Parts: sequence; structure tokens; C-alpha cells
Amino acid sequence: MRSLFRLKTIVAAEDQPEHHRLARTLSWPHLVAMGVGAIVGTGILTLIGVGADRAGPAVLLSFAVAGAICACAALCYAEMATMIPASGSAYTYSYAALGEIIACVVGWSLILEYSLVVSTVAVGWSGYAVGFLKGLGVFLPDALTHGPSLEGSWANHDLHLANLGVNVPAMLIIAVVAGMLMLGTRESARVNTALVVLKIATLSLFVAVALPHFDAANLHPFAPNGFGSVADDHGVKYGVMGAAAIIFFAFYGFDAISTAAEEAKNPERDLAIGIVGSMLACTLIYVIVAAAAVGAVHYTVFSKSAEPLALILRSLGSARVATVVAAAAAIALPTVLLAFLYGQSRIFLVMARDGFLPPALAKVSARGTPARITAVTAVFVAILAGLLPLDVIASLANAGTLCAFVAVAACVLVLRRRSPEAKRPFRTPVAWVVAPAAILGCVYLFISLQVVTQVSFLIWNGVGLLVYFLYARARAVEGRTAP
Ligand code: ALA
Repeated sequence: MRSLFRLKTIVAAEDQPEHHRLARTLSWPHLVAMGVGAIVGTGILTLIGVGADRAGPAVLLSFAVAGAICACAALCYAEMATMIPASGSAYTYSYAALGEIIACVVGWSLILEYSLVVSTVAVGWSGYAVGFLKGLGVFLPDALTHGPSLEGSWANHDLHLANLGVNVPAMLIIAVVAGMLMLGTRESARVNTALVVLKIATLSLFVAVALPHFDAANLHPFAPNGFGSVADDHGVKYGVMGAAAIIFFAFYGFDAISTAAEEAKNPERDLAIGIVGSMLACTLIYVIVAAAAVGAVHYTVFSKSAEPLALILRSLGSARVATVVAAAAAIALPTVLLAFLYGQSRIFLVMARDGFLPPALAKVSARGTPARITAVTAVFVAILAGLLPLDVIASLANAGTLCAFVAVAACVLVLRRRSPEAKRPFRTPVAWVVAPAAILGCVYLFISLQVVTQVSFLIWNGVGLLVYFLYARARAVEGRTAP
């Protein structure tokens, strides 16, 4: 039993064997750009429509709730990332603070988060790219622009395939981003910074056009589905909290910065600036964009669209600006893919280094990047992106992320108690309020997710535990101390 909770002693990046060592190339502006690049994406560009469908104009409150919970989690991440500046994010912190078996669950939850974010964002990207091409008069065959869709419901036993399809653009964009990452980290960070600027400019353009059309009448009825979360016949949860559980997707990404710990030049200072700075910047941007969107037109106009912001602009009579926004979204959204595919490969790398996954996967290429893992991950997430609908993948990514956030907040509390004297370059303010708030908030959002998402999450972690007991437990032997 005790061995299930053994702890890992973190090996400094410089002490890793050469073929597992990453190059230190990133400073804080890269990290803030990486954070904003990872956070601002499909959540604000596409899921704002899904959120409005579920909460009405009160999606503004869903943004506020999800943002507040993420702010608490970001503060906890900043403390842990600067205290344990090693790759692997929540998985590594849990291994050092909570024990091996919990680290295993958190690691598998992170794989869910990072891989499904890549798939979700690729599907969101496809919506804008297809819309942009349509604006230019280029029409792709419908069956090549979305995955197969289902009709009916489990409850009535009449679930059936409505139409076949594969989201080819979503698969292609993943292949392109994976190729860039395999070329090298610094090159990717430069491209990322340029695209982040474009993304912010695009959202500013949207606000500049939409905000002058703000009409308070569009905010009525404000919360047509109530303030809690109520399931319909298909198990989809409506209401402010039901929407918050999906809008949560828009806010995370700051955690991806922590996976760059072994590549940051000055991790103790730069990680805190990157995590807290990018989170605050994005929250501000979201509040303004969401208010401009729900105020400009009635939410029913854009709530079912694959490219809601472009549609809002078109219905305001600004078709040209809509094409520009769709084009810019298509060019800039890959920053999210870049950050999460990057984070995913680093988490795989650390788990493989620890013996949780086959070590051959963790080999770092001659260019200093874990190319093999990046390629394997890309194939896996491209298949999911080709076949699954946006809200389904996004909810499951949220489930994995919520689990990781709970673990990180728990690590803060456990280590404050166990090692009060340890060096903490960044201290979470009022930690005994902020960390429990993050935990309770995340648990509440998890409860507000659809039942099918919760069950899928449990099955995924069940598989993880099976791999742990059958494969990893005997191999995960290096560098740990008993609790
Ligand atoms: N927050 C990121 C997005 O919205 C994952 O795309």
C-alpha cells in the first residue's frame, strides 16, 4: 500500500541524461506570449456560441464564474511551477507531493486535457477556415468538413448515425503544427509570438465593429435556462453553470506554460510572470469580447454557428470584416495547437522518463525536441479531430483539466503543511482560501458536466490505472522516496 503513495524526488533538468535533456531557450516574454497563445482560442472564438446556446446572454456570468475559478487555479500553478521548476506540470507536482498513484491519475488526466484540446481547437479552426474559404467562393465537399454526426438519444434507445464525414481540415492543421514543433522550440516560440499579436488584433477588430451595436434589448431574456445546470433529454446541461462547465475551456492554457519549466532561462521568476500575467490579460479580453458579442445581436443568431464571431459581423452588415476575422482566426488559432501539442509531448516525455510509458518514446532528437512523441501524439489527436464533434471533445478535455487543477491546488495545501520552510519564489496569496476555492469550484464544474463526459473520464482513468498496475508500477522505480 505504502508504495502506491511513494513520492518522487525531482531531478534537476541539468542532471537528466543528455538524450532526455531539453535546451533552455525561453524568457518571460516568450512565456507570456505562449500563455496568451494557449489561452485565447476556440473557447472565445467558437465555444462562446455553445455557451450562449446553453445559458443565453447570461453566458457573461458563465465567463465570470469559469474565470474566477481559473484565476484561483492559476495562482496555485504559479506557486507550484516556481517551487518545482521541472517539466511535467501537475503530474510532476503530484508525484512530488501527493504520491505515485495520484500522479498516475493526474498524468492520464493531463493526457486527456492536452490531446483533446488539440483536437477541439483543430475542429474550431476548421469551422473558421471553411467559412473563410466560402467567403472566397471556395466550397469544400460538406462530408469533408465535419465528423460523423448522431441523432436521437441514449435514453430513448434511438441513437443512430445521421450522416458520415471526416473533418479533413482539422486533421491537416494538426499535421502542419506537429511538423513545426519537430523543427525546434525556439523557432516555434518566434512564430507563436507573431501569431499572438495577430490574434489580439483580430479580437480588437471584432470589438471595434460589434461594440457600437450594443443594444440592451439583446440581453433579454437574460438567463432563459436558469442559473444552475439542468439536463435535457440528451443529457446536455443547460443554464449558467452548465455553460460555465464548457466555457471553462476558454480560460485554461496558462498551465501549458508550466510544462516549459525545463526550457525557461530563469524559471523561478519567468514562470510566475507568464502564468499570472497571461491569465489576467486573457480574462480582460474575454469580458470585452463576450459583452460585445451578446450585446450586438440576439444570442440565437450565432449560438449554433461553427464561426460565431464571423457570423455576428456578417449579420451586422460587415461581410468584409467577417472575412478578415475568419482569415485571421484561421491563421492565428494554431498558436493554441502549438502550445498544447508542445505541452502534451513534454508531459509524455516526463511520464516516459519516469517509467509510466515506454522510455523509447521519450528520446529527444538531434534538434533538442522530443520528435517521436510529438509525431505519435499528433496522429492520435488528428484521428479524434477528424471524427468527433466540438462540444463532446471540449467537455472531455475540461474533465481532464479540472482533475489536474484540483491536484495542483491540493499540492499547494499539502506542501504548505508538510514543508512550510521550503523556498517558494511565488506564494499564492491567502492560499488557505484560494486553493480550497479552486478545488471546490473545479469539483462543482465537474459535477455540471454531462454524465457521459463524467463516465468517459472515469473509464479513461480506469485504463490509466490498469496500465499502471500491469506495466508502470514495476518500472517506475527511479528517484523516489517513501512518504
Ligand atoms: N483556452 C484554449 C482555447 O480556448 C484552450 O482554445
